[in-house]
Amino acid sequence: MNDTNQCGPLFVGCPNQGDRGVLLARINDLLDRRWFTNNGPLVQEFEQRIADYVGVRHCVAMCNATVALEIASHALGFAGEVIVPAYTFVATVHALQWQGIRPVFADINPATYNIEPGTLEKLITPKTTGIVGVHVWGRACDVEAIETIAAHHHLQVLFDAAHAFGCSYRGRMVGGFGRCEVFSFHATKFLNSFEGGAVTTNDAELAEKLRLMRNFGFSGYDNVIYQGVNGKMTEVCAAMGLTSLEAVDAIVATNCRNYDCYCRFLADIPGVAIIAYDPLEKNNYQYIIVEIDEQASGVSRDGLVTHLHSHGIIARKYFWPGVHRMEPYRTLQPDAGRSLPNTEQVSARVIVLPTGQAVDEVSVAWVCHVIRDFINCGHRPTGNRGTSPR
Ligand SMILES: Cc1ncc(COP(=O)(O)O)c(C=O)c1O
Repeated sequence: MNDTNQCGPLFVGCPNQGDRGVLLARINDLLDRRWFTNNGPLVQEFEQRIADYVGVRHCVAMCNATVALEIASHALGFAGEVIVPAYTFVATVHALQWQGIRPVFADINPATYNIEPGTLEKLITPKTTGIVGVHVWGRACDVEAIETIAAHHHLQVLFDAAHAFGCSYRGRMVGGFGRCEVFSFHATKFLNSFEGGAVTTNDAELAEKLRLMRNFGFSGYDNVIYQGVNGKMTEVCAAMGLTSLEAVDAIVATNCRNYDCYCRFLADIPGVAIIAYDPLEKNNYQYIIVEIDEQASGVSRDGLVTHLHSHGIIARKYFWPGVHRMEPYRTLQPDAGRSLPNTEQVSARVIVLPTGQAVDEVSVAWVCHVIRDFINCGHRPTGNRGTSPR
């Protein structure tokens, strides 16, 4: 391959889109109806179709997953301390801290990047009220182990499934585990509603509480029965969500093709390992995650990212730094890193590469060529070699 980028800029999280004509028709209809928000017909349809897809009884759509996490933790009565991984997007932890709940950071299993159940017992104190598991990159947590420990200590379990729509755990779709699960439909997610999120659960009472709490706590016109907030999804977001949902199989097929291409093109590059998805489970393949072994590759992870950026490939270092190294946590819990060796190690090695509808086989070949070229040449301190041919 030559050294000219013929792909244009490539971004992690470039949005996917369903059928534009169908989306615009839905938007036209909702404008005609003059029902823009407050549990409109498109939101209700979106909720029903998400619930059907996931195989749960209830889906409560929200304005985004962060607010959904806040409302869900409030509805579950989380207080005091809640155990949560530090290897996650900061919103998982902010949702707790925002409500005055102390996050207690659990380390991850370096093979799965998910919370390590073996660390949980020693983190539980009389103040602990719950555990938040995150299905990182759509690979489900060890749900059974977490639920068993939680039940033993009378704790509630909430799963942050922001990455895991369309994924399964032991053959069952993510969405029905714990007391409830939270999905994100942010523009960067493989299935998006511009901004959006949802809580899914099989618990009717909890679902009703979530519905009222996302609408200020109103039960009927003039009667507020809970402390609520404005967490509602708008009709235009539901229009986008429904249109994306109709394209979900095609988007997953594209992600899967890109993932296979990355696996092939990166296979023999020393020190570069792409994470695997269990072929026995369903996955959305929305994340291309590679770990860089600095010794084996001879390059630094950060140098490689800078190099990719200089070639118009906007790779990301998720989740670096771990949440415990971000404010306010690094001030409140300055020693947290000592008990998170796997989080520290994994977050120093990961790179997320572009995929989705905006990426094709030629783009994947180009990204892999840039990586291979940088590694073959060894680390150059500037991290930017332009595009000169070798
Ligand atoms: C694990 C995780 N949780 C929560 C969120 C927050 O989602 P939203 O942007 O919909 O608020 C994200 C967003 O990327 C995420 O990755």
